[in-house]
Amino acid sequence: MRALPESGFRGANDLFRRALLWQPLSDEEWAGNAALYEPGRVLGAFVDGELAGTTRTITNVLAVPGGRRLPAGAVTGVGVRADQTRRGVLTSLMRAQLEEVRERGEAVAMLHASEAVIYERFGYGVATRCRRVELDRPSVAVRAEVPRGGRVRLVDQAKAEPLLPAIYERCGLDRPGRIGRADAWWSARWSMWGKGLTVAVHADEDGVDDGFVIYEPKTDDNWSITVRVIDVSAADATAAAELWRFLLDLDLADRLVAGIRPVDEPLEWWLTDRRQCRITTVEDDLWVRLVDVLAAFRARTFGAAEPVVVEVRDAFLPENEGRYRVAPDGVHRCSGEPQLSFDVATLAALYLGDQSASALVAAGRIQAHDPAAVPAADSLFATVVPPWCGTSF
Ligand SMILES: CC(C)(COP(=O)(O)OP(=O)(O)OC[C@H]1O[C@@H](n2cnc3c(N)ncnc32)[C@H](O)[C@@H]1OP(=O)(O)O)[C@@H](O)C(=O)NCCC(=O)NCCS
Repeated sequence: MRALPESGFRGANDLFRRALLWQPLSDEEWAGNAALYEPGRVLGAFVDGELAGTTRTITNVLAVPGGRRLPAGAVTGVGVRADQTRRGVLTSLMRAQLEEVRERGEAVAMLHASEAVIYERFGYGVATRCRRVELDRPSVAVRAEVPRGGRVRLVDQAKAEPLLPAIYERCGLDRPGRIGRADAWWSARWSMWGKGLTVAVHADEDGVDDGFVIYEPKTDDNWSITVRVIDVSAADATAAAELWRFLLDLDLADRLVAGIRPVDEPLEWWLTDRRQCRITTVEDDLWVRLVDVLAAFRARTFGAAEPVVVEVRDAFLPENEGRYRVAPDGVHRCSGEPQLSFDVATLAALYLGDQSASALVAAGRIQAHDPAAVPAADSLFATVVPPWCGTSF
């Protein structure tokens, strides 16, 4: 198990893509992706001197309740060669990677999972969820009271590329679950998206750009046009409403399809007929692994409630195991009787506010030794808006 030199990055990318049953990247595609491979953060597992598996980490931040951006390792590029699976290669990679994340002072690791059954054993849990929506555009009418303001304009892709990173930074990165988008992320995305995209930007009444939409129209064999909405980022409710109104007004478009959207996006509330917004899936979005539980607890704020003593189990990183007294004025390790017990993967669901303690007790994922602690934990961990990541990596 070792960090790969830069000369090994492309081979690692090939291995990863083959593990996912994808074709390797062309030279041009690789050129657009190479900057995502950070020296020292690409791990290789070798069996008999040959690369058998790989994973890598991207330096990033995660917005946590209270608005702090916590340094976080974004885990991706996970793959084990098809002839080396089920022999513990991934387990060794995960162990080495979490050690590296901790050594760098990142209290959390995070990922998007190809399958839901892989990562819980390593302490990852679902921390944010997202939904996919479809609308038959000609049948949709927007209610009169939906916020209005500012103006939406089309922007050439070449001009949009340098513009969007700064607008994204303005778009509510303090919402729990949001993560950064570095320059290398944008370059890789533009190279993946190709040239068939359209970008529209919203500017507020003062002319300040505060949101954008990226979309791609597709015409099928019957001349029916579906607009695939790739991204909608908006700094406030007015920008979000205007960008969606713009999409819903696109002449000739028959259908809008948007994935990885926040579960509380008020689309159905904007429509005169709410059933025209079809929610086709609600699924896991960001998986989070609290690598340093105490540091992660201390990074977020808590709601007003009586303190609660929680017991955390963590078989993969036992240094996290123990009891923590969670209170509005801070968190510290303690030795008192636990009122609630759960494993570190369950804590991920609580940590950013996606699930309440009550819901997790009902699901059997939290053991409540003191029933009074459940409503207290509900108030401590609650967030005003549900967390949402919305950024693939
Ligand atoms: C998923 C993958 C990385 C697992 O690698 P691996 O080296 O076989 O994993 P390990 O041998 O360390 O397995 C660890 C445990 O997880 C289980 N496991 C691993 N992958 C699993 C899967 N896809 N489904 C169910 N269980 C799985 C193993 O059975 C093993 O369980 P055990 O400890 O009870 O025996 C590998 O199968 C792969 O490359 N798959 C295709 C690419 C992919 O999905 N990458 C993830 C991108 S997010």
